[in-house]
Amino acid sequence: MTCLTRRETLAAGVALAAAACTSLPQDPAGPAGAAPDSLNGLAKTKGLAFGSCLGGGKDSYSFRDPQVRALMIEQCGMLVPENELKWVALRPDAKSFDFTRADVLIAFGETHGMKIRGHTLLWHNMQWFPEWLKTYDFGPRPAAEAERLLREHITTVCTRYGTRIFSYDVVNETIDAKTGEMRDTVFTRHLGDKVIDIAFDAAKQAAPHAKLVYNDYMSWGPGNAVHRAGVLKLLARLRKNNVPVDTLGVQSHIGPGASDSTPQYGAAEDKDWRAFLDEATAMGLDLAITEFDVGDQVLPADVAVRDKMVADMARSYLDAMFSYPQLRTVMAWGLVDKYSWLRNRWPRADGLPKRPSPYDDDYQPKPLREAIAESFRAAPARASI
Ligand code: G3I
Repeated sequence: MTCLTRRETLAAGVALAAAACTSLPQDPAGPAGAAPDSLNGLAKTKGLAFGSCLGGGKDSYSFRDPQVRALMIEQCGMLVPENELKWVALRPDAKSFDFTRADVLIAFGETHGMKIRGHTLLWHNMQWFPEWLKTYDFGPRPAAEAERLLREHITTVCTRYGTRIFSYDVVNETIDAKTGEMRDTVFTRHLGDKVIDIAFDAAKQAAPHAKLVYNDYMSWGPGNAVHRAGVLKLLARLRKNNVPVDTLGVQSHIGPGASDSTPQYGAAEDKDWRAFLDEATAMGLDLAITEFDVGDQVLPADVAVRDKMVADMARSYLDAMFSYPQLRTVMAWGLVDKYSWLRNRWPRADGLPKRPSPYDDDYQPKPLREAIAESFRAAPARASI
């Protein structure tokens, strides 16, 4: 087990103190998401909970913006660090951990009574590994070393936060959307598919209280059929082997453009999508919406038209999702357009800024926010988590 050095512990303490001095006193008082007409307030009446990611990166990031923090406190009952719990943020090298930025975000959420999700213990795609891991020398007993490294990482993170994190995306995006097969990584080269089983086992041992989630971005379009089938095949294998996975995390980056998602969520889409969700829930899995936003890459330029199309699509999609009593948590992947990861990804041909989030650049609610609220109002009640 790698422990924090004295320097790292001090750094984390300084960061927390800085957060306490520079940001928290200016923020509105909690408890977060308590107002009945907030998104979380509306969700709560149906046994659901609403939250968002928040980013605390080195540069301009949403946590630095007091108006975003105020919106989080007003609307959200849950928070997930957008990038700060990823290997790339936590692991400067094979021996040490840097929890500074994650600690600040988690402390902020807790101060205001938000529940915390952990994303992610293993983003199983080499593209998102830290550089050192891509070329790591696993030595003469590579399988044993790969397992040791993975278990050490997961155990260290889960032990540090204990019951402060109620749900982990244990494994993120291990299925290749094009082939439906497991992605090849430095871990699979030595451990094969067992890498996923090991990750869940380590998480279960270190965080027995937590909901353990397999998280992925499969969607409903015909071009996503291979991805959906691959995810179901993985989940079936995990269930058969008694691997402790509780929940399928449906990222829900919906909207036309980036993938092959069609510009509407109509009867045809609903049929394919429900067939997928039915199969997952029949395995005894819960569902969670973990990263909701609506891409508008190829929608018309007119903002009113575009916002309405985004809202309409969200409403149909969320209504379908909320019809599953196994779904209890809904996380937006950002509340405010200007901090969305989609702003700089897959730009629109007309160069106009994308509007994928519930609030606009001036922190004003958009039709998407109302669509989410309406879906919560219309949702059947369920037992809460
Ligand atoms: O912090 C560095 C900064 O120092 C540097 O100057 C700058 C230059 O580009 O990069 C900054 O880091 C960026 C980081 O976001 C914070 O801004 C990374 O390059 C960039 O790759 C990173 O993107 C994140 C991406 O995951 C990759 O980790 C997005 O913010 C984040 O929204 C996105 O989230 C993913 C989920 O984890 C998994 N599902 C898909 C989702 C969207 O891609």
